[in-house]
Amino acid sequence: MNKPMHPAAASAQAFQVADLRPTERLFEDEEGRDRLEKAVSRYPDRRAALLPMLGYAQERNGWVSDENMAEIAEALDLTPAYVRSVATFYTMYNKHPVGRHLIQVCTCISCHLHEADEVFERFLTETGTRAGEVSEDGRYTVIEAECLGACGFATAVQVNDRYFENVTSDQVPAILDELD
Ligand code: FES
Repeated sequence: MNKPMHPAAASAQAFQVADLRPTERLFEDEEGRDRLEKAVSRYPDRRAALLPMLGYAQERNGWVSDENMAEIAEALDLTPAYVRSVATFYTMYNKHPVGRHLIQVCTCISCHLHEADEVFERFLTETGTRAGEVSEDGRYTVIEAECLGACGFATAVQVNDRYFENVTSDQVPAILDELD
């Protein structure tokens, strides 16, 4: 890869700043064509490369736009509707732009019982956003998340590929300070 991936794309979760960084087309350069070729080569049917290509779109742009879905559909001999049906099934694919740091606060039962609501509200206040919005500087999007699998360490917060456990609302400013 000739250029760094989107900072938020180190894992399955990623984000986007649509107004600041328009989505790039996926397969017009060597990098994209190479990724497509490698993914397709792993499967007996090129259509099976759908999930890796959705992941690549998110890695590259931080989210998966309708335009990117159409490109993927064409590249894999699928219909755009089929690609969209898969992309919308998985919550880890972002269908809207998000900030460079996607902050997911678990508000399910264990975390709910350990001030998850206060943690969530504090993140919104500190970032100056409403739920799901991209902050003005493009740095943050804060959303509620379903169980993050860290119920014994409530409240659990995931920022891109990084976990924070036993988070209290008082710790929110320090967590934000840690993010670049
Ligand atoms: Fe929050 Fe499971 S309920 S991590």
